Amino acid sequence: MIILGGSASTGLAERVAKELGQKPAEVEIKRFPDGEKYIRIHDDVKDKGVAIIQSLYRTPDEYIFEYLIIADTLRDMGASSIVGVIPYLAYARQDSRFYPGEALTSASVAKLFEAAGTTSVLTIDCHLHRLGDVSKVFKVPARNLSAMPSLGKYARDILRPKNPIVVAPDEEAEQWAGTVAKELGAEHTHFTKRRIREEGQTSSRLELDTGKTEFKGRDVVFTDDIISTGATIAGAAKACKKKGARRMFVLATHPVLAEGAIKRIRASGISKIIATDTIPSAISKVSVAPVLSAALRNTL
Ligand code: R5P
Repeated sequence: MIILGGSASTGLAERVAKELGQKPAEVEIKRFPDGEKYIRIHDDVKDKGVAIIQSLYRTPDEYIFEYLIIADTLRDMGASSIVGVIPYLAYARQDSRFYPGEALTSASVAKLFEAAGTTSVLTIDCHLHRLGDVSKVFKVPARNLSAMPSLGKYARDILRPKNPIVVAPDEEAEQWAGTVAKELGAEHTHFTKRRIREEGQTSSRLELDTGKTEFKGRDVVFTDDIISTGATIAGAAKACKKKGARRMFVLATHPVLAEGAIKRIRASGISKIIATDTIPSAISKVSVAPVLSAALRNTL
């Protein structure tokens, strides 16, 4: 299997290729003065499987288009299979038509990927709250992997929380809190997020219904798939602080990090914010390369 990194994920592609004992494919990507891209793949891919690693963050539309061109070119060059490795799958959140006429972007993106020749897909902690699984979005085989066991191990070995409680900021994140709690040998609980949808706008309110759970003097480890504005985690942290939490940490798979997110989270009392390299960032301390390479090894 040839590993090819799109311009969104060159670093991650190098780490995945290294795990597999190889070098990533040589791809030349340049921009013409009018903004168009020139793409050239230097490797011979005829009758070979190729994994395109391309995370869809910050400028997702640009990265999607680049992916489509690369996949179509690989198909033309005779690649035998094309695995779309999309660690952060943009547009996954719009997996339902909430109002008539809304674009069902998760489905549209999947159709484009398939039309360009993608034969299977790998994602990581994909945000599909209503559909539940990425295999329901794509017609080709699609598998969602998780970074939470690796993040949990990081918490256990590096953060070393004392008398920890793992907290999910909403019901959907409870699955990840459970995984991390298992690594830490700790208990876990979750907030309830009430989403208020009004035409074109979504706001939310967090409610903590933890019953008899004691927070006083305990270290809290928050887990979530995405940190975007940081408002969800900051809200949860403030509530736990009020209940007497000691140190507070956050583990998240995708550091989307809208402007001001880190500042907002720190101001809520959280001392360490740890994420993965599905999106390169200053807090990307845990690599998903081992998880991806293990999955790709099985498809070799
Ligand atoms: C929501 O359901 C997600 O799992 C995250 O909690 C959310 O995307 C985080 O967004 P923000 O950082 O803007 O609160």
